[in-house]
Amino acid sequence: MRRRSFLRQAGMATAGASLLPLSNLFASTAAAKVRIALIGVGLRGQNHLDLLLRRSDTELVAVCDINDRMLATAKDMIGKSGKAMPRIYTGDNYAWKKLLEEVKPDGVVIATPWEWHKEMIIGSLESGVKYVGSEVVIGITLDDHWDVVHAAEKYKGHVMMLENVCYRRDVMAVLNMVRQGVFGEMIHLQGGYQHDLREVKFNDGVNPYGHGVEFGAKGFSEAAWRTEHSVHRNGDLYPTHGIGPIAHYINVNRGNRFISLCSFSSKARGLHNYIVEKGGADHPNAKVNFKLGDVVTTNIQCANGETILLQHDTNLPRPYSLGFRVQGTKGLWMDVNKSIYVEGQSPKAHQWEAQQAWMDKYDHPLWQRWSKETEGAGHGGMDFFVIHAFIESIKRQQPTPMDVYDAAAWSAITPLSEQSVELGNQTIAFPDFTSGQWMYRKPVFALNNEF
Ligand SMILES: NC(=O)c1ccc[n+]([C@@H]2O[C@H](COP(=O)([O-])OP(=O)(O)OC[C@H]3O[C@@H](n4cnc5c(N)ncnc54)[C@H](O)[C@@H]3O)[C@@H](O)[C@H]2O)c1
Repeated sequence: MRRRSFLRQAGMATAGASLLPLSNLFASTAAAKVRIALIGVGLRGQNHLDLLLRRSDTELVAVCDINDRMLATAKDMIGKSGKAMPRIYTGDNYAWKKLLEEVKPDGVVIATPWEWHKEMIIGSLESGVKYVGSEVVIGITLDDHWDVVHAAEKYKGHVMMLENVCYRRDVMAVLNMVRQGVFGEMIHLQGGYQHDLREVKFNDGVNPYGHGVEFGAKGFSEAAWRTEHSVHRNGDLYPTHGIGPIAHYINVNRGNRFISLCSFSSKARGLHNYIVEKGGADHPNAKVNFKLGDVVTTNIQCANGETILLQHDTNLPRPYSLGFRVQGTKGLWMDVNKSIYVEGQSPKAHQWEAQQAWMDKYDHPLWQRWSKETEGAGHGGMDFFVIHAFIESIKRQQPTPMDVYDAAAWSAITPLSEQSVELGNQTIAFPDFTSGQWMYRKPVFALNNEF
């Protein structure tokens, strides 16, 4: 980034930025770059690595992982990019602490297993890092979420959960429609994570997807850790891809908030059946008791009267779908049938209209501006935006467009839904992580075409 343009943008920094001590970021040379460290270069971290390496405004200063194979792939990617090799930290589970002490990056991107996120986010903030981008979710227990919120407040740091589905092209076009009143007043929303993960939860320890029914110490990538959560936990284990976009549609934490939640969990069959089918009834894993119900449904009530239905469905054969439904007083969008209905505007009463013309008309300014840069980026291009937003926030020394309160509220659905299921589907009060500020905070996400 050119110095002149940075100074202009820095001058546009919001009041929130004045809370932050201005570091010597970008101060010295025209070509100064945002110094980023990446903790976790597994399959997701490699996506982020690719996006970071593509940027001319970012310098990857350090990488940490404990897995030799993942590190070798990452180093290969860095070598092929022609960029300088960053410092590599490895060897033990806390090598990242040394990284933070020695490298003092401007921002940290975390893409490790869920159980590490809280500790790594808080450790980064404690070490003086002001921008922490964490993969979904930010903690395991409800207390974890409070701990992260309190640490962000104490150290005046920005914690952004890297929730990429908020940037999906259709999701953003619908955000545009919602903001322009196409669907009237919001009434009911649906979404979730409906993804057959059987080939992710089990593999042969070599291939990331399928080819075996191993997990834990004998599994590779997510099979090495994610599957344990299906053994020991029962609730909506992966709520953020569904709830993130929904939260933006109804301004959660910004004039609205989640009030209460109630979850139901079906019986658990899918994972066991898969092991028996692929590995045989005598395979040791056929004896494992999976606690996670195959389909977990969660209802959320919001302060402004909307209801939300979230679904978590990862153990059964099914095509991928996040199952969005955005319904207001004038009409609705559903992503499963890629259709819209708006009373008085859709051609035929009571009949779905194909969504494409609406999506084109309301294409979000971010997508209109940055489509070229999204080419080749993960998940249909949307992954570009989440890293873009994180880096641009650092450059401008502004709050990130999704903050620690969003991260906590979306991610805390998991421990709250576990609690509800455990208590026989009891309705659980939703904590207010903003401590009342939700009444005054204003929407900030994707208000223009910058980031
Ligand atoms: N947003 C998305 O679309 C998306 C997609 C996939 C995964 N994810 C999320 O990304 C995160 C990582 O998932 P993944 O698929 O990359 O898993 P993965 O198992 O492929 O990678 C995790 C990496 O973390 C490393 N790691 C574990 N403990 C560590 C430690 N103490 N210090 C340093 N490195 C450590 C592992 O060695 C591994 O390389 C999870 O939160 C997952 O939910 C998000």
